[in-house]
Amino acid sequence: MKYLYIQTFGCQMNFHDSDQMAALLERSGYRITDDLAASDLVIINTCSVREKAEQKAHSFMGRLGKLKRERRVIIGIAGCLAQQWGKEFLARIPHLDFVLGTHNIHRLPEIVEEIEKSGTRVAETSFHEKVKSLEIYTPSRNGHVTSCVTIMQGCNNFCSFCIVPHLRGREESRPSGHIVDEIRRLAASGIREVMLLGQNVNSYGNTLAGSPGFPELLAMINDIEGVERIRFTTSHPKDLSEDLMKCFGSLEKLCEHIHLPVQSGSDRVLTRMNRRYTSEEYLEKVRTLRAYCPGISISSDIIVGFPGEEEEDFQKTIDLMEKVIFDTSFSFKYSARPGIVAQEFEGRVDEKTKSRRLSLLQAVQERHTLQVNRSLVGGIVDVLVESVSRNDAFEITGRSRSHKIVNFSGDSSSIGRIVPVRITAAFAHSLRGERESGREVTQC
Ligand code: SAH
Ligand code: SF4
Ligand code: F3S
Repeated sequence: MKYLYIQTFGCQMNFHDSDQMAALLERSGYRITDDLAASDLVIINTCSVREKAEQKAHSFMGRLGKLKRERRVIIGIAGCLAQQWGKEFLARIPHLDFVLGTHNIHRLPEIVEEIEKSGTRVAETSFHEKVKSLEIYTPSRNGHVTSCVTIMQGCNNFCSFCIVPHLRGREESRPSGHIVDEIRRLAASGIREVMLLGQNVNSYGNTLAGSPGFPELLAMINDIEGVERIRFTTSHPKDLSEDLMKCFGSLEKLCEHIHLPVQSGSDRVLTRMNRRYTSEEYLEKVRTLRAYCPGISISSDIIVGFPGEEEEDFQKTIDLMEKVIFDTSFSFKYSARPGIVAQEFEGRVDEKTKSRRLSLLQAVQERHTLQVNRSLVGGIVDVLVESVSRNDAFEITGRSRSHKIVNFSGDSSSIGRIVPVRITAAFAHSLRGERESGREVTQC
């Protein structure tokens, strides 16, 4: 038996890519291990979106040099950093055996086989018009009740701060029939919830002649027997159509949560970011979403310290947050990345200012998250039970339809079931509750 260890950094798409790599290599006799010391093959699946992500990958890579000196092990780097640096990595890192770009996951088994046989070092980072990995079936992981399904790959938006389109290539939608078939298979294997993945799912179908659009795709998935819940990520606000917003009120399996990154509340900054919406247009979409689906949970991504961001621009972001009240948000200091348009912009914001703005913003978000979570206390929510707590066999955890973590008493027999839970306490990152029987669900 050969053992594979995968270390993943980055977004959900990257984690899904790791699952695909594991699925492919399992077919060639590898088994996943979480013991690095026991591995025969180590893959670092990397992210390049911010400098911090790059540093984490490098520091992990540094540790592997020792492993390679001690015994025979194949070491590969995949993902966005691999795409960015290509064969330069082979020159820079002597203990590295292969570099695998974002469009070449399907080639992983043959590359590993070649290295096993001949010890050649390989770098494969070519871009393809059709990305074959879109069609790699990834069986549900043992004991998991939710699964990710890629519906499109790449991005055509070129936000000026973002390196993703440079490393993932142009937008490509996967045929709807293939998506539906994969979800049917997953449902038959016990999956109850699917998370549809794409850099901008709202433009699903645009690059595929005769394809249904995203709302129609959601309706098709809503009809699949066995699937109880549908989620998706990510949505670009400029492409969020009224038809899609309506789905939240009309498709019973579509969960009441949307991740809708705003990035900034200042129109001046939004223009320089090339986001192609104004703060007022964003707020209007939030109002429409809430009209179709009262109580919908809205989360966001926000960047502070974008080049040229003045104090007054930052204040506009806080003002927007006060108007929307996001359920949660992920906030980042602007990070300079090679090749992005914003690199040419004037008005670099110093680290100290970025840090101050980030902590102010995160304090506002924490207040809002608590406010939203506390408003749920006393109500009953549907929870899809995902697992038993690591520390207590009689404590279970799952998510509400609005994507909030809910902990309550129970045991492993509830995993995969949807149970009504009365919320008794609210915290910044989770809710606590008690199981209710025979009661109507009152909140999402
Ligand atoms: N496709 C997704 C997100 C991709 S990257 C979308 O459009 O929403 C995830 C988040 O990282 C972005 O939403 C943005 O907030 C952040 N990000 C991207 N590039 C960044 C940079 N150079 N510095 C800081 N944050 C960045
Ligand atoms: Fe990056 Fe913008 Fe594309 Fe998202 S939509 S991946 S932020 S370029
Ligand atoms: Fe994802 Fe990071 Fe690449 S966010 S698409 S792994 S740069």
